[in-house]
Amino acid sequence: MARIRKIKKPFQVELELHDAASDGRAVGRHDDKVVFVEGGVPGDLVEAKVYAKQKKFLVGSMENLIRPSEDRVDPQCEHFKACGGCKWQHMAYPAQIKYKEAQVLAALKRIGKIESQEYLPILGSNEIFNYRNKVEFSFSRSVWFTKEELDSGKPFPPEGALGFHAPGFFDKVLPIDECHLTLPIINEVRNEIERYSIEKEYAFYNIREHTGFLRTLGFRNSLSRSELMIILVVAQDDPEKVEDIFFHLEKKYPQITHFVWVVNQKLNSVYSDQEVRFWKGEEYLTESLGKYDFRVRPLSFFQTNPKQASELYGVVEKYLKRCLPEGYNKLGTVYDLYSGTGSIGIFISDYAEKVVGIEYVQSAVDDAWENVKLNGLDKDQFSFYAGDMKEILNDELVQKEGQPDLIIADPPRQGMDPKVVKQILKLLPKYIIYVSCKPATQARDLEMMGENYELLSVQPVDMFPHTAHVENVVLLERKDEVIVNEEA
Ligand SMILES: C[S@@+](CC[C@H](N)C(=O)[O-])C[C@H]1O[C@@H](n2cnc3c(N)ncnc32)[C@H](O)[C@@H]1O
Repeated sequence: MARIRKIKKPFQVELELHDAASDGRAVGRHDDKVVFVEGGVPGDLVEAKVYAKQKKFLVGSMENLIRPSEDRVDPQCEHFKACGGCKWQHMAYPAQIKYKEAQVLAALKRIGKIESQEYLPILGSNEIFNYRNKVEFSFSRSVWFTKEELDSGKPFPPEGALGFHAPGFFDKVLPIDECHLTLPIINEVRNEIERYSIEKEYAFYNIREHTGFLRTLGFRNSLSRSELMIILVVAQDDPEKVEDIFFHLEKKYPQITHFVWVVNQKLNSVYSDQEVRFWKGEEYLTESLGKYDFRVRPLSFFQTNPKQASELYGVVEKYLKRCLPEGYNKLGTVYDLYSGTGSIGIFISDYAEKVVGIEYVQSAVDDAWENVKLNGLDKDQFSFYAGDMKEILNDELVQKEGQPDLIIADPPRQGMDPKVVKQILKLLPKYIIYVSCKPATQARDLEMMGENYELLSVQPVDMFPHTAHVENVVLLERKDEVIVNEEA
């Protein structure tokens, strides 16, 4: 892709914004070019400063709002402009989901070049605030102030701040009082830890100089069990200081059920490879989706919006039922690709004789086996494999586990590796259910499958209100006549 270049002499234009891009920016048009405008809402008439360009588009920022869109609302969050986490808090929720649905349809049409027999309306979220079950704040000596804060003459806190990284800065943290996507108790505990650490002079981390003690503060919670886990990452192995913080919190907040800490002495902030230490509480949370329970360990992947995850898995179940041959209430073999902790495979296990899960992360596969046991399911009904999909999903595995009647795939944002798509096209299961958190990569993969598969149904689901992210589930059926690629 051609590079985006800064314009030497930025210029002002008046724009009527008419659409929203998949990254959350609003879209207008100047002469023959599309202009992406940060901070706009479709329907706004704005004065924008155009400061960068690429061959096909311009990039601008909103300078003046001349006439607000009917969909513009006041954001609840005082950190809205600076934080960058909720790009759409200034857009009414019905408009948010309208643009998410449009994003899915546009990707299928433009990238996938594929038409569906059925387009189901997006499943919006009943809860649009306090829905996240996972959040992480960073301690930093270096604080990011907004222009308004700087202009007000507010002094920088000498100890630093506990908050979210300012967009584009690895070292600066935006102080956060309240994040509206997490539970109110998390904000309360977060603020108390910041206050207490300053009182006790426990130094916040300086990532440039690699000094200080406190690095990050994570929270995970289970809605169904009202469990709350705190994950404190520190730079030195100093149990006394950690215990002091934990004792303080334990006394003040009985709602915290799990206390976990990690020592990260590395120069980078990645701590998933470090030992997890348990101070109080079990080594996992338990969350329910539908009638099933799932163990969530401090560092393992789990859907971040559990209420909508139940809806999403419900869509997979509904599609699966459409794949059942008449008179049958179960399929034979179902492959659950990118299975994580086995949650989708377990959720649909009533409708499959056999579930074969494949997942990159060994600890997630271990969790999947535990989840099978936790739910009292027959372990012989399941197989789980750990490793890279493009290596594991091979002829040998299919010989051992049997030809899939249905493949469910739920890959990460980058979609499936072309080798995996080719292998699926070689296996040619009658049905495929493809769950995706990035419509553009899903559409790219569907384009590769279009020759041999019919798109039966499309169901977008909103898992992340106030962001531009959208989940999409599609159901594919093999065509009566297929083209077999000998090289595949
Ligand atoms: C979007 S998550 C879905 C997890 C699970 N289906 C769920 O609903 O919780 C994608 C999963 O794919 C796994 N993954 C990423 N790249 C992979 C690869 N190359 N091979 C196998 N699994 C991979 C990740 O570890 C993650 O668990």
